[in-house]
Amino acid sequence: MRTHTCGDLRASDLGKEVCLQGWVRFSRDHGGVAFIDLADRYGMTQVVFDPEDVSANDAAALSETMSSFSRESVVMVRGTVRRRVEGTEDARNPTGEVEVLIRQAELLNKSGIPPMEVGDQKEGVLPGEDVRMRYRYIDLRRSEMIRAMEFRSKFMHLARQYLESKDFLEIETPILGRSTPEGARDFIVPSRIHPGTFYALTQSPQLYKQMLMVAGMDRYYQVARCFRDEDSRKDRQPEFTQLDMEMSFVDMQDIQDTIEGLVAYVWKGLYGEELKTPFMRVPYEVAMEKYGSDKPDMRYGLELHTLTDVVKDAPYKIFQNVIASGGIITGINIKKDLAGDSIGRNEVDRYIEYVKKIGMGGLTWMRAKDGTLESNIVKYFTPEIIASLKQEMGAEDGDLLFLLAGPRKATLEGAGTLRRKLAEDLGLVPQGVHQFLWLVDCPMFDVDPVSGKRDSFHHPFVLPDENYEGGACFDLCLDGNELGSGSLRIHKAEVQREVFRMLGMSEEKMEADFGFFLEALSLGAPPHGGIALGIDRFVAILLEKDSIRDTIAFPKNKVGISLLDGSPAKVDDEKLEELQIMSMAFDDADFEDLE
Ligand code: AMO
Repeated sequence: MRTHTCGDLRASDLGKEVCLQGWVRFSRDHGGVAFIDLADRYGMTQVVFDPEDVSANDAAALSETMSSFSRESVVMVRGTVRRRVEGTEDARNPTGEVEVLIRQAELLNKSGIPPMEVGDQKEGVLPGEDVRMRYRYIDLRRSEMIRAMEFRSKFMHLARQYLESKDFLEIETPILGRSTPEGARDFIVPSRIHPGTFYALTQSPQLYKQMLMVAGMDRYYQVARCFRDEDSRKDRQPEFTQLDMEMSFVDMQDIQDTIEGLVAYVWKGLYGEELKTPFMRVPYEVAMEKYGSDKPDMRYGLELHTLTDVVKDAPYKIFQNVIASGGIITGINIKKDLAGDSIGRNEVDRYIEYVKKIGMGGLTWMRAKDGTLESNIVKYFTPEIIASLKQEMGAEDGDLLFLLAGPRKATLEGAGTLRRKLAEDLGLVPQGVHQFLWLVDCPMFDVDPVSGKRDSFHHPFVLPDENYEGGACFDLCLDGNELGSGSLRIHKAEVQREVFRMLGMSEEKMEADFGFFLEALSLGAPPHGGIALGIDRFVAILLEKDSIRDTIAFPKNKVGISLLDGSPAKVDDEKLEELQIMSMAFDDADFEDLE
C-alpha cells in the first residue's frame, strides 16, 4: 500500500512521487501551511500541505481531510519528495533533509486523544509506568521501545543462527506439564477432563530436555517460556524467556565453549566487535569471600577482607560472640582516593542504618589516621591486632574501614550488598563496560547451618562429585547479574535417587513425583549437560535498562498484574463449576488492589 516507509526517504529521492502511511505524531500550522511528522517503526518523515500549491488535486477537499488528522491517527499521503527549505533541515533525523509535498491524503483511522505522548520525551518526562503498561501498544510506538524490540529480535535471530550452525535441533516441550523443582511455586492449571487433577505450568524445560537426551536428540535448544509464581522484581517476571540448551557426551568445558562461541557470535552481530573469550572463571568460594556475591561484579574494587583470624583474640564482645557461634568478620576498605576520608560522620550513620535495613546487626567502622586506626572499638585491639588489621585490609592514612560480623553466608552477602551500594554511591560502576565471567566450583547443596537440612544449590539434577559435596554446575554472570546456570546432569538412576534421598525425599514421594524420570534414566540415558540463559535479563543489561519489563512487549507489573488486559481476573462461576472447582465467596474489597 505504500512506496516507502517513514524512515526511507533521503536527498537521493528528490522529485520522486511517493506514498507513505503511518501515524500523525506531531503537526503544526505555519500561516495555513500544515507540517506533519508522519511516523512508523522505521522513522519519521516531514510531510507538508500547502493550500497555495496549485498542483494539489483539490486544495479545498484536501484541506478538509487534513483537518481530521488528529494526533496518532493513521493516515496515508501521496506527494513529491522535495528538499526542505534551507535552515530547516533536521540533522538528527536521517530523513531530515527532505519533506513530502502532499497532493493527496486519506484518513485511514482516526485516533482518540492519546493517553500518553509518543514523540521523543523532549524533557525526558515519561508518564508513570502504570500508564505505559495500560496503553502498552502506544508505549511501544516510542523509539526507545522500538529499539529494544529490534535489539531483542536481532539477538534471538543471531543466537538461533549460531545454534543451527552447530547442529542444535529446535524442539518445543510442553508448557502444561508436571511441576519441576526449580525452587519457585508453580502456577497450577486445572484439568476439566480429569476433575481434581492439575497441570503445572513448567518452571523450565529441565526434565523434558534431559529426556530429549535420553531420546538421542544429542543437541537441543529452545526459546522457552518459563513460569514461576514468585514475586516480580526488577529482574524477575512470573513468565520469562530462557534460551534453553542441552547436549550429550559433553564435559563442562564443552558446554562453556559452546556458550562462549554463542555469546561472541551474537556480540559480533550486534556490535561488530570481537568479544574476548574465554571468560574468566571465578570459584564460588572466592566470589563469596571477596565480593560477597555468587554473581560478583568485578568491574570495580572494594573487595571484602575476611578478618575473623585477625581479630579473634580481641576482647570485643560482639566479635567474640560471633566467632564463638561459628560466624565471621569481614571488612571493606574505602580508600582515601575513593573519598574514604571525605565520608563524614553523618554519612557513616546512614550506612549503619542501611546495613540494618538489609538485615545485618550493625556496622563497625574505623578510620586510618596518623599511622594507626581510630574508632570507639580500637581500645579493644592490641597494637599487633591493629597492625595486622591494617596489613590485611591494606589500610593507609585517610582510608575508611567498614566491618561486618555475623553468621558466615548472611554476613558475606550483606557485605556484598553494602559493597554494591558503596560502588553506586561513589560512582565506581563503569558505564558501557561489560564483563562476563563463569562462576565455578559450586557446592552441590546449601546446608542450613542450624537444622543441617540440605537444599539443592542449583537443582537436584546436577551431577555431584564422588563425595556428593561439589556439583558439576556453573553460572554465567554479567556485570553483577546471573545470566544463566548450567551443569552436567546425573544420568544414572541410582545416583539421582541418592541425591533425592539426601534432600530428604521419601521413596514414596520420589516414585510419585519422579518415577517416570528415574525410569527414563534407567533406559539408556547418555552422559549429558546443558544450560539456560535468561533472555529478558541478558537484553536488559546490554540495553542498560533498569528493569527487564523494558525488554518485554507485554510484561506484568511489579505486583504481577497485566494492566493491559486486567489479568489475573475473576472467572465466571459456570467456568469454575465445569472444572469442579468450588467458587469462593471473595469480597469485592479483595479485588480492589487489582482494579
Ligand atoms: P535457573 O532457574 O537458574 O536455571 O534459570 C536460568 C536463568 O533464567 C533467568 N531467570 C529469570 N528471568 C526472569 N524472571 C525470572 N523469574 C527468572 N528466573 C530465572 C535467569 C537465570 O539465570 N533448568 C535450569 C537451567 C539448567 O540447568 O539448564 C534453570 O531453569 O537469568
